[in-house]
Amino acid sequence: MSLRAEGLRVRLGAAEVLHAVDFSADPGEVTAIVGPNGSGKTTLMRALTGELPHDGRVWLNGRDTAALRGWEMAALRAVLPQSTPLAFPFSVVEVVRMGQMSGLSAADPTLAARALSAVDLAGYENRFFQELSGGEQQRAQLARVLVQVWEPLGPDGPRWLLLDEPVASLDIGHQLGVMALVRDYARRGGGVVAVMHDLNLTAIGADKAVMMAQGQVLAAGPVPEVLTDAVLGEAYGCPLRVNAAPADGAVFVLPHSVGKVA
Ligand SMILES: Nc1ncnc2c1ncn2[C@@H]1O[C@H](COP(=O)(O)OP(=O)(O)OP(=O)(O)O)[C@@H](O)[C@H]1O
Ligand SMILES: [Mg+2]
Repeated sequence: MSLRAEGLRVRLGAAEVLHAVDFSADPGEVTAIVGPNGSGKTTLMRALTGELPHDGRVWLNGRDTAALRGWEMAALRAVLPQSTPLAFPFSVVEVVRMGQMSGLSAADPTLAARALSAVDLAGYENRFFQELSGGEQQRAQLARVLVQVWEPLGPDGPRWLLLDEPVASLDIGHQLGVMALVRDYARRGGGVVAVMHDLNLTAIGADKAVMMAQGQVLAAGPVPEVLTDAVLGEAYGCPLRVNAAPADGAVFVLPHSVGKVA
């Protein structure tokens, strides 16, 4: 029971932007996809979710996703895109209930409120989504994703949260809150794959990391094996140093200068 891909190739426009990528993530863990802008993180995520046509194969809980129907996929995994523009004036609770319609949890009338509370938006049910701040909108979308696969374990095995930059526009308190939430989901048996830019949050919140660079996997494995001076230098091309906290050896990353003007 895992999320696994082999030989993923994606063409967008005239160019191939994902070059024979292998990927694997296990339930019970948080797997971070990291890497510079344009390295293929979103493309990899969208290939894993089945949203983009691709060469290569993806298996979700041992089942080839090419053979899964839309409703079967919706019951197994929920997807938070990098951005989710909404053209119509939905209330927050209506946005969250969109997730309930596509998942297995449609019957529970209390779920939307519980999910909003989990993302610190209790009481926001009847506000218009468009009138929320950027970070509040992102948390409301996360609540929508959560209700779709609310229970981390289902009859067909672990369920999966596939999140493209879930903490991108959140303040530090809410960043930690969301990481705590997804860690708890994994601890209860679910799988979590999250695209992340913040390497320090990745160090404390993820178990495994996949470093993307130029449409390929540069390194993958336990976080301390991926967040190294050598890997970061090659991926980002800027002066970063990986440190270990004296108290507990926790890994953290600091730039050691601003580098040169490009
Ligand atoms: N529709 C498209 N047509 C052509 N090229 C595209 C298209 N969408 C994305 N690309 C290119 O594919 C590459 C990977 O894009 P992707 O969105 O996966 O990057 P990313 O790692 O998620 O970056 P970011 O950190 O900025 O979100 C980039 O070079 C991008 O310019
Ligand atoms: Mg992206």
